Amino acid sequence: MYTNLLIDNQDGIVVVTLNRPKALNALNGQTLAELHQFFTKDALAIEGLKGVILTGAGEKSFVAGADISEFMKIEGAEGASFAQRGHSIFFAIERFHRPVVAAVNGYALGGGCELAMSAHIRVAGEKARFGQPEVNLGILPGYGGTQRLIQLIGKGKAVELMMTADMIGAEEAKQLGLVTHVVPVGEEVAKAKEIIQKIATKGPVAISKVIEAVNAYFDYNSDGFGAEVNAFGDLTQTADFKEGASAFLEKRKADFKGV
Ligand code: CAA
Repeated sequence: MYTNLLIDNQDGIVVVTLNRPKALNALNGQTLAELHQFFTKDALAIEGLKGVILTGAGEKSFVAGADISEFMKIEGAEGASFAQRGHSIFFAIERFHRPVVAAVNGYALGGGCELAMSAHIRVAGEKARFGQPEVNLGILPGYGGTQRLIQLIGKGKAVELMMTADMIGAEEAKQLGLVTHVVPVGEEVAKAKEIIQKIATKGPVAISKVIEAVNAYFDYNSDGFGAEVNAFGDLTQTADFKEGASAFLEKRKADFKGV
């Protein structure tokens, strides 16, 4: 069903492995189409989905960017639609209702860094390398990098990274807030799973509303504070809220049903 993605459902935590190791898992059109298919259709049908982990096949690379051999053939106005297509897929990831964690196991460059930034949370292996090297090719980050890198690490360092094409290592990425955990090589997915398991003990509707309200902050057409107020109002009407509050008062673990 998928050519370039490996999908492994491990008790409701779905590990999506980008699997083109010979091209360092570069994002070609087929891979993007499959990511779109997964996040907008197939994942919605998975019962008991706790969250999604994105990672790359092999030890060397998470994703080394958009596939240069493919997109170098772009001509004229096709370039804007190429970027627009990436945007719509990465927005689908950012707006996904369950937590998406990027387990960055190596190079996360260009579109790869942008893919990781569209996830809600990022975990890096010690040897991971991040960067937006597009200016080396005479282009700029086209899958949301100019916006999300600033959101995550601030304008000063983001602009420097985008203009110099410098790569940074995992520890620096953590200091900058680009990732929240650095783990030994090979433990990226396990750490991501641990985070999703913890989130899975919380109210699922509340988690999806956190995602919506946080995204509203960065949406210039939305009122983030208003989105928070509405989400809070909606959540107080859920059975999960009654259950969570009762469980606290009765000193027991909440049994959330997701309604
Ligand atoms: N697209 C297509 N193929 C790629 C690729 C990419 N982004 N990155 C690596 N590859 C391929 C190489 O061409 C090579 O293929 P062959 O074996 O057939 O020659 C194979 O993967 C292994 O790569 P290297 O031999 O280059 O490996 P290395 O260890 O010497 O270097 C690297 C690793 C530093 C990641 C280097 O491959 C590199 O700089 N890759 C390109 C990174 C890049 O510029 N990414 C941004 C792409 S543009 C973009 O993403 C635009 C956007 O915002 C949407």
